[in-house]
Parts: sequence; structure tokens; C-alpha cells
Amino acid sequence: MMPDAWTASPYVPLSSISVEPLLGGDYDSDPGLVYKRLRTKYGPVAPVDLLGVPVWLVLGYTEVLQVLQNQGGIWNKHLRYWRARAEGRISPAWPLTPIFESDNSAFHDGAQLRRLRHAWTAGLAPFQDPTRPQAQALERAIEQYADDLITLLAEGGGNGWADLSAQYARPLPLMVSNRLLGFESIQGDDVLMDVWRVLDAGPDATAASQRLIAAVTDLALTKMRHPGDDLPSYMLAAVPGLSVEELSREILMLPGLIGDFTGSLICNTLVEVMGNPDARATLSQGIEEVVNRVALANSPMANLTFRFPAVDVQLGRFVIAAGDPVMLSIAGAHADPQFGGALDPQAMRSTRAHLAWGAGPHSCLGRQLAMRVTTIAVSRLFERFSRVRLAMPPDQLPWRSSPMARTLRSLPVQFELAEYYAPAGHTGFGTVSSPEPMPPVMAVPAVRQEPPRSALWRFLRGLRRER
Ligand code: HEM
Repeated sequence: MMPDAWTASPYVPLSSISVEPLLGGDYDSDPGLVYKRLRTKYGPVAPVDLLGVPVWLVLGYTEVLQVLQNQGGIWNKHLRYWRARAEGRISPAWPLTPIFESDNSAFHDGAQLRRLRHAWTAGLAPFQDPTRPQAQALERAIEQYADDLITLLAEGGGNGWADLSAQYARPLPLMVSNRLLGFESIQGDDVLMDVWRVLDAGPDATAASQRLIAAVTDLALTKMRHPGDDLPSYMLAAVPGLSVEELSREILMLPGLIGDFTGSLICNTLVEVMGNPDARATLSQGIEEVVNRVALANSPMANLTFRFPAVDVQLGRFVIAAGDPVMLSIAGAHADPQFGGALDPQAMRSTRAHLAWGAGPHSCLGRQLAMRVTTIAVSRLFERFSRVRLAMPPDQLPWRSSPMARTLRSLPVQFELAEYYAPAGHTGFGTVSSPEPMPPVMAVPAVRQEPPRSALWRFLRGLRRER
């Protein structure tokens, strides 16, 4: 029989505890409540059922940080350390198998992890270091993509309705991802549509995933033969022994990281600003501060892929057996009263000690880029729209939950375009955007005709609401 609250710490095998499913109606509507219930019952580490697999969910800030930092080196991410899987107890049909078997840097440890991370660090450096010409050109491109998308959604009138998730926050980072990868624009747009199909896990996801893998492998081969001024080429130059398969697996991470997580950060920041009665006053604290507050309150990566201890280890009120799967909950850690409860909600500057970007040997390597895309996306929107407001109360917005993330299904707004706007390229890399609309550098009609693009443009045009 289950005790009401776990206080002891003797060894209790995970498979012997009858655990509740993590996912379900409550998790969909308010995951915070589920984390609270689990914390009350079990403390900072709770056994849960994740789609039929028993897992330890870590909810305590201190415990999550301790595992992330991995000081003793006992925590591994490679699947060979997963005891139940090695014993054949995990069905290949388990829904998270494709993610967990993607065999990229997120699932490596030690020397191989350091090698792959070196490729990422060196590959991203030209695009994340504000003094480099590539970073400056990328910044102008992001502004231009933002302008193109805004112009498209406002085609046919200066005011109306839009879904800022599907028509802006999701496509924008994917366009950035394509540029980083060095795809030609039309081919890149087809790839982008396939990424979208895979991320949405719809009926055509399998075929799209196969086309995506083929396109990325082809890209890796091309960059190996003809290096360009792009991320894969810089990754190859940094780690010359990197194979086509290794490079393909790494760059396949990009659409999810940049598309889903950055898109989600953009959406959540827009909601935060629009939900505030004086939207532009919120931005007066600095756009980066607003994004930081949002990452803390509603972390795009809510729960992380598993870690496995190499030896039995005490964590919270339990002894975790070597090889048991442990899922760190960033969202749970941020809601831990010992962390979240100690923060001053009135503070002008929110803490940077949150875990939205991870920590330790697997910490995020694309943080500056994700921040930059988000800050440009948000500030550009408020520069181009003289008025924008949520088309429904914030607490009725439709959320989509998955084991690892919580994202908005749609972000319906009513907007009114500013009559004039300053064209892309007027802000410098790293500058904090002004809280007030920027004075136009050059008066440009708000709605201009874009050249017709590919399938992506046709798809986005199809999303426009009649007014
Ligand atoms: C808002 C957007 C993003 C968020 C919230 C985010 C957050 C995170 C977190 C929490 C981790 C740690 C995962 C773990 O410890 O298991 C991580 C890892 C990583 N991130 Fe990000 N990330 C974002 C965007 C990006 C972008 C745009 C890139 C690249 C351009 C990137 C590159 C990486 C890489 C390469 C890793 C894996 C490192 C490893 O496993 O060693 N991230 N990210």
C-alpha cells in the first residue's frame, strides 16, 4: 500500500512502486498543480509513470542543479546505462524512442560529448559573437525575416487578426535555422515545411522525417566537399574527423531547439508583454529582462531527457538504483518553494540563477542565439504594430503539453499596423531595444509586396484570416 507521504529513504525498487502517470488531463491543463501534488507526496524526487515507463522525476531545485552539475561524474546520458532497456524491458514502440535514440550530443558523455560540444561551440561562434561579421549579417537577416512575416500576415489591410504562433513565432526561428544550415532559400523552405510536419507529429510526419534526414545528410555531404560560410562548415572545420552521420545527427537537433523552443520563448514573451496592461512599459525594463523573466516563469524546456546514475545514489527521500532513468524537471525546480518562494516578485531584475538553459556539462550552447532571435522578434513586432492585443483572456490560451515541453497551440491577436516603420538593419547587435517605438529612420509604407516564395509562403498566406 502507498503511504500518504514518503519520509523514509530506504532502498525501494522503482519497479515496485505503483506510480501515477505524469501525463493526463491535469498535466495538460496545469502541470504546476501536478508537480505540487507530487512534491507534497514524495518530496523533491517523485516516482512517476511516463507513457508506461517508470521514471524518477526530480522537482527540487537543489537536486536538479546537483544532477546537472554532475560533480562526482556519476550521471550519464548514454542509453547503454539504462538498466531496464538493457534488460529488454522497454518496448521499441515506446513513443519517446525516436527522440531518445537520436544519438546526438544530448545522449553522450565524456570525451565524445566534449568533442561534439567543441564542434557546436566553434560552429556557433561566428554567429553568436557580436563582433563577427556573420553575427551582424545574421542579425539583419532576422530583422528582415521578421519584417517579411509581419508584412505577409498584414497583407490586404493594416489591421486584423493573426495567429502569432503559426504566422510569426514558429516560422521565424525556423527561417533562421535554415540560414545557419546554409540551405538555398527554396530548398530550405521545403525542408522547413518538413520540419514543421515532424514537429507536429501529424499523419505525414514519418515521410517528412525521412525526407528531412535525407536532406540533412545530403547537406552534410555537400558541406564536407564544398565548405561555406555556415554552421555545418564551421563545425566540420573545428572537428575535422566528424563523420557525415555525426554531423547530420547534430544538425538535426537544430529545428527542434531553434524551432520549437525558441518559437515557444517568443510566444511566451509576447503573451507576457500583451498580458500586461501597459505593454510597452514592461519593455522599459529592457527586453532581455522580460525574456529572462519569461524563461524563469515558463521554461520552454520543461523536463529534460533522462540521466542514469552509474552507482546507487541517494536523491531526495529515495535511493536511486544504478541505471534507473531520472528526468530533471526544470519547470518543477523553478516552482520549488525553496527557490521560487525565495524570489522577490517585485524585483526590477529577475534572477539569472534559473535553469532554463540547463547547467553543467550539457548546458545550452545556443543560448545567446536563442535570446537574440527572441529579442529581435519581440521588439520588431512592437515596432511594426501600433496596437496589438490578445484576442482571448490569457488564462484561456490553448496549450499543448508534451513530456518535455509546454507550448502554445495558437496565439490569436488583434493588431493594427503602425503607419511607418524603420526598415530592417537599424538596430545594432546586442543593443537593448528602446521601450518606445523607434523613430523611423526612413519612412516606408507599412505594407509592401514581397516576392512570392515557395510552399512555405503559400502555406503562411493560407493562414491569413479574412477580415
Ligand atoms: C529558447 C530556446 C532554447 C532553450 C530554452 C534551450 C535550453 C536548453 C537546455 C535546458 C539544455 C540542456 C539539456 C540537458 O541538460 O539535458 C540545452 C542543451 C543544448 N542546447 Fe539549447 N536551448 C534553446 C535553444 C538552443 C539553440 C537555438 C541552440 C543552437 C543553435 C541550442 C543548442 C543546444 C545544444 C547543442 C545543447 C546540447 C548540449 C549537450 O547536450 O551537451 N539551444 N538547451
